[in-house]
Amino acid sequence: MKPLNHLLTLKDLDKEQILHLLDQAAKIKAAPQDYANALRGKSVVMLFEKPSLRTRVSFDIGLNKMGGHAVYLDQQNGELGARETVKDFGANISCWADGIVARVFKQSTLEQLATGGSIPVINALSDLYHPCQALADFLALQEKLGDPSKVKLAYVGDGNNVTHSLMLLAAQIGAEMVVVCPPGYNVDGQVVVDCQAINARTGGKLTISSELSALNGVDAIYADTWVSMGDSTPLDQIKAVFSSYQINAELMANTGAKFFMHCQPAHREYEVTSEVLDGEQSLILPQAENRMWAQNSVMLELLK
Ligand code: CP
Ligand code: NVA
Repeated sequence: MKPLNHLLTLKDLDKEQILHLLDQAAKIKAAPQDYANALRGKSVVMLFEKPSLRTRVSFDIGLNKMGGHAVYLDQQNGELGARETVKDFGANISCWADGIVARVFKQSTLEQLATGGSIPVINALSDLYHPCQALADFLALQEKLGDPSKVKLAYVGDGNNVTHSLMLLAAQIGAEMVVVCPPGYNVDGQVVVDCQAINARTGGKLTISSELSALNGVDAIYADTWVSMGDSTPLDQIKAVFSSYQINAELMANTGAKFFMHCQPAHREYEVTSEVLDGEQSLILPQAENRMWAQNSVMLELLK
């Protein structure tokens, strides 16, 4: 297997690396005591330009469970890149820490941290991607459905960072992905081109549509917020565009989807009804739990 140097985007990984990360996450989850000292003495700087609940807590507690130590940095030093360059920031952190976990506005910031420093950088969400989320989500699908490369996953809503990482993960492992967005809210064109190129090699399939009929026969339907962090548009302002894309019990029944997924934070009665979010088909809490196991697998691979 090719060694992993960073986790900036799933575009950089291949099927073997992704399936290994998922299998290793399942092993850590099944016997965390076996990994209690796996990252003993390792320190990770966690740098957050945006708010977080799941990512911050799951990285910190997850690293602690493997014997490591996390240092949280928010914006107390002002905007990243203002007091000193991102490159210098990364180079200095590399003097003390063994890894950087960063949630940033721009994907290019992660690249600057990686090139400026000499330690692994893990993308904890950017404008373009959320790879740790997609790994946790496919771990949840693997637990429910077995071989993740046989899964048919649909995403409905705003084409965003979470969508892009789900698309790339599905493509890399040769799975099928359906993306349904309202006109004007589609996914990034370059990510579509990247996924098509990967699918040509792996046998994966990507369908992009604005029609809900494209959802018929999928295994799971995934939703995310209609407005991502960094976008100040009020949810109610775009409600009219998105309301027919709400995931509700009727849509779940009509499509035959077995599971509902959401990265959270969820906006109840906007992108999904509480009935579906809290219902028996919902995987939201296994997804949240799996953030920790998937990230522990990533940290183990990068820092051991
Ligand atoms: N899903 C997710 O990344 O949640 P947070 O924004 O709370 O970290
Ligand atoms: N697309 C969302 C995901 C939050 C975890 C955002 O970027 O705000």
